[in-house]
Amino acid sequence: MGVPIPSEYGGLGGTFVTYVKVVEEIAKACASSSLIVAVQELGMLPIMIAGNEEQKKRFLPKIASGEHLAAYALTEVSSGSDALGSMRTRAELKGDKYYLTGQKIWITNGSVADVVCVFAVTDPAAGSRGVSAFVVEKNSPVFSVGKKEKKMGIRGSPTVELIFDNCEVPVENRLGEEGEGFKIAMRVLDKSRPGIAAQALGIAAGALEYATNYAKERIAFGKPIGQHQGIGFMLADMKTEVEAARLLLYESARKCDAGEPDVTLWAAMAKLKCGDVAMSVTTDAVQVLGGFGYSSEYPVERMMRDAKITQIYEGTQQIQRLVINRNMIGKGK
Ligand code: CAA
Repeated sequence: MGVPIPSEYGGLGGTFVTYVKVVEEIAKACASSSLIVAVQELGMLPIMIAGNEEQKKRFLPKIASGEHLAAYALTEVSSGSDALGSMRTRAELKGDKYYLTGQKIWITNGSVADVVCVFAVTDPAAGSRGVSAFVVEKNSPVFSVGKKEKKMGIRGSPTVELIFDNCEVPVENRLGEEGEGFKIAMRVLDKSRPGIAAQALGIAAGALEYATNYAKERIAFGKPIGQHQGIGFMLADMKTEVEAARLLLYESARKCDAGEPDVTLWAAMAKLKCGDVAMSVTTDAVQVLGGFGYSSEYPVERMMRDAKITQIYEGTQQIQRLVINRNMIGKGK
């Protein structure tokens, strides 16, 4: 859990390159399990990026050890891709406490997390400078868990609604200054999207390995199906796509480690490529296995269902393209 957390806060002090390799390796076998590691990182990053020394010492060691689970709460019913413009959760300061009111949805690990980094509007008139970031602790009054989603894939990972009903958050749990929350949220995604790209790549690599072994053993028309051009060329394309995606991912993680200025662009490109490769490679793996691929007795059926979410969460593929394009051309008016 503590791979990318510095050793002074109880972590391993590992690089982002190491971290993405850990997520990738776990995802080869189980996407839901890899998400335990990836969301721990997503939930701790606001503290790493914007927390003061006291907050880092208070929260990070237990996150690094796994004693505490962390989550990240940005998305709302009407605010998915338009994370800023449609955010409705409010935080009002009264004395030395903020009172949070609103609802967040699609929160991975929200029902099991001990600390949740929540983004809420502190000044509705201030646009991108009107959002603030808070660490909400599990037993904060009144913070509760709502509906648990029934999902197509990653069914081993809980995804829930969180409800804040005048939820009390002490001022010392605000991360950064008031109004800095949206930029913190975006800076977090620059570092967490490679983690989801790693999950996607792992799913693809796991499916490719399974399909390749199957194609060596399954005989049709007197020889292994992998030696028939129809399946053999499909496997060759799958392998090439997986290795190309891997190079893009490792380069984006290296840029995170080096603190290079174009991490936003590279994180978006890695997430876009790896998510699309996960979907296409797992779909083709099901095809290689034929009828057996469509059965839940074989793992590629689960891998195909799990792959889909990597094209949706931590910014849809459409949002990744928007981010890439803005980094090339600019946003304009
Ligand atoms: N780093 C720092 N600052 C950034 C930034 C970045 N990467 N990206 C934007 N900003 C700043 C901008 O400079 C701007 O600042 P100023 O107003 O001071 O100029 C401000 O933030 C607003 O930015 P934009 O004008 O670009 O905002 P926008 O509303 O046009 O678009 C967006 C932003 C890129 C579309 C963004 O809303 C976005 O990424 N949306 C997708 C949200 C998302 O990924 N959600 C995933 C939820 S987490 C999840 O899925 C986890 C899970 O379950 C596992």
